[in-house]
Amino acid sequence: KKYKIAVIVGSLRKESFNLKTAKAMMEMAPESLDMSLLDISGLPMFNEDLEGNPPKEWETLREKISDADGLLFFTPEYNRSVPGVLKNAIDVGSRPYGENSWNGKPAAIVSVSIGNISGFGANHHLRQSLTFVNVPTMAQPEAYIGDASALYDDNGKLTNDSTKEFFKTYLDAFEEWVHTIAK
Ligand code: FNR
Repeated sequence: KKYKIAVIVGSLRKESFNLKTAKAMMEMAPESLDMSLLDISGLPMFNEDLEGNPPKEWETLREKISDADGLLFFTPEYNRSVPGVLKNAIDVGSRPYGENSWNGKPAAIVSVSIGNISGFGANHHLRQSLTFVNVPTMAQPEAYIGDASALYDDNGKLTNDSTKEFFKTYLDAFEEWVHTIAK
């Protein structure tokens, strides 16, 4: 069986190191994981007043989440937490009340930073929200990718061999996690 994995990147910029890391991992994806990027740019901000007549972008996001068997998050750290765009996507996907699209989907979190605290704060704030929306998030191995600007060449290719090795180990563990939990 193939499992559909929605890859969600919490940075919207073109040269994002989170996006580069997501692409590097997608290229190395295990056979049974069919990974595709879930675009969260252009998602209107959550507002309870709009719930009766939701923007179509909200509905599209909810459908795509529901359609996925698993989730792989890549998050930058903004001011020691999760970027607003990513938090907004979590909020939109969790509603309307009683119809939480995230419910039960196995997930993993990779935090990527140019600094050397490696997005620890964002990684764990994201875990806090995912716990509440009932997303079983892989505990180990953890992925804190620091000094990210040193890992990629000018074409965005991952050049660091020990990082490649780690990504492989990480993806193998994530594959097992998805197989164990996905319905
Ligand atoms: C940052 N950055 C950052 N880095 C970090 O390690 N901890 C932090 O708290 C912050 N805070 C922060 C706030 C804001 C508003 C910005 C724009 C940036 C730096 C951040 O890690 C860096 O810009 C990364 O390159 C962002 O990820 P992408 O866009 O490369 O994926």
